[in-house]
Amino acid sequence: MAKAKILYIDDEKINLSNFAASFKDEFEVITAISGNEGLEIFKTYHDIAVIVADQRMPGMSGVEMLTRIYEMDTAPIRIILTGYINPQDIILAINQGHIHQYINKPWNIDQVRSILSQAVDKYQLTRENKRLLKILAGKNEALQAANEQLIADIDLQAKLERQNREAEIKMMSQAKMASLGQIATGIAHEINQPLTFIKIALESTARDIENQALSITELLEDINESQKQIRRITLIIDHLRTFGRNSSDERHPTNMPEALDSALILFKQKIKAGGVELLVTRADNLPQVYGNISKLEQVFTNLIQNSMDALEEVDNGRIEVDFQPRGQQLVTRFIDNGQGMTPEVREKIFEPFFSTKETGRGTGLGLSIIYGIISELDGIIDCESAPGQGCTFTITLPILTTDST
Ligand SMILES: Nc1ncnc2c1ncn2[C@@H]1O[C@H](COP(=O)(O)OP(=O)(O)OP(=O)(O)O)[C@@H](O)[C@H]1O
Ligand SMILES: [Mg+2]
Repeated sequence: MAKAKILYIDDEKINLSNFAASFKDEFEVITAISGNEGLEIFKTYHDIAVIVADQRMPGMSGVEMLTRIYEMDTAPIRIILTGYINPQDIILAINQGHIHQYINKPWNIDQVRSILSQAVDKYQLTRENKRLLKILAGKNEALQAANEQLIADIDLQAKLERQNREAEIKMMSQAKMASLGQIATGIAHEINQPLTFIKIALESTARDIENQALSITELLEDINESQKQIRRITLIIDHLRTFGRNSSDERHPTNMPEALDSALILFKQKIKAGGVELLVTRADNLPQVYGNISKLEQVFTNLIQNSMDALEEVDNGRIEVDFQPRGQQLVTRFIDNGQGMTPEVREKIFEPFFSTKETGRGTGLGLSIIYGIISELDGIIDCESAPGQGCTFTITLPILTTDST
């Protein structure tokens, strides 16, 4: 390590050389013959640790000189050396020059060496403290900045999450509106048919009464048929009531084909109107699954909607649904001979918001909702397809056992 620098000022040359010779081994001693020279020298260095000044010098006293030094830099340790002790001088020196120490002349080499090395230690400690404080301040600043950034990031993330959620809710309700719009036509048709039948039956009965040609047998037949039609309308209305509601997560022993039938109440008409043939097959004594009928109905609703879209441009469109047990599983296969899909599309179909349909027609939520429902029931849904080769969705669900519930 480099030796610590000590500046010694005295107006007597002999004292200067004496001092320098005494301490040159331990310190780098720099000397000046006057206060002015001392100040000039001090300005050219930035790391003088200790300044020792003789008090009695012509022109500028030691205390005066140390006061000037203190105004420039408070760090160096300031020591006054004098043979003449006047308490007044001591007080002045301490107050004005911020003197750390007083050394009497004639000085003793060992005593001064120990004072100097203590002073150097003190100087170095102060400098080190300053350096550490500066680093700490820098670190604090960085920490503060990081903290502010973190808070900003958290705020931004919360905002993004809220926006995402809002967008999702909007999409969901749009999807619901869109599918409601799609099925409304079907429902209107579905209700219109039985109403027309009832209307015609009533008109013909009224006419028969007017013409006194009422046949009780025919009337009974008409009444029976009308009651059947009314039951059908009631069924559709009942169904619509539950369709809009968010279904609960409750699970019950459920027949998969019943879930399909439920979905078909609203879609049969659309399928027929689209010229699509529907074929449902099922094994005898089909086991039940432990699920939720309205959620499973949603599964079929979404699958039917997708198939109908895929069959739009296809002649002899067909949808086949088949239910079979396989070991402890119930396998439902849902097949259409629609346009099918490329492997790239196939990769993504279960991702939320993935859709190849134009905006307004598809939200890309249908299959992700299905995926969620089937996973919740510990089942698996898979899809096989190729362009122009239609599509086969396979749903595998654990069959109901005594420990299901
Ligand atoms: N039966 C199918 N035949 C061909 N492609 C299909 C079929 N079913 C789904 N797809 C493809 O998978 C994509 C995602 O289907 P998904 O049901 O998740 O969304 P979507 O039908 O586009 O929109 P929506 O939210 O209205 O259902 C569709 O856009 C389509 O490209
Ligand atoms: Mg869909």
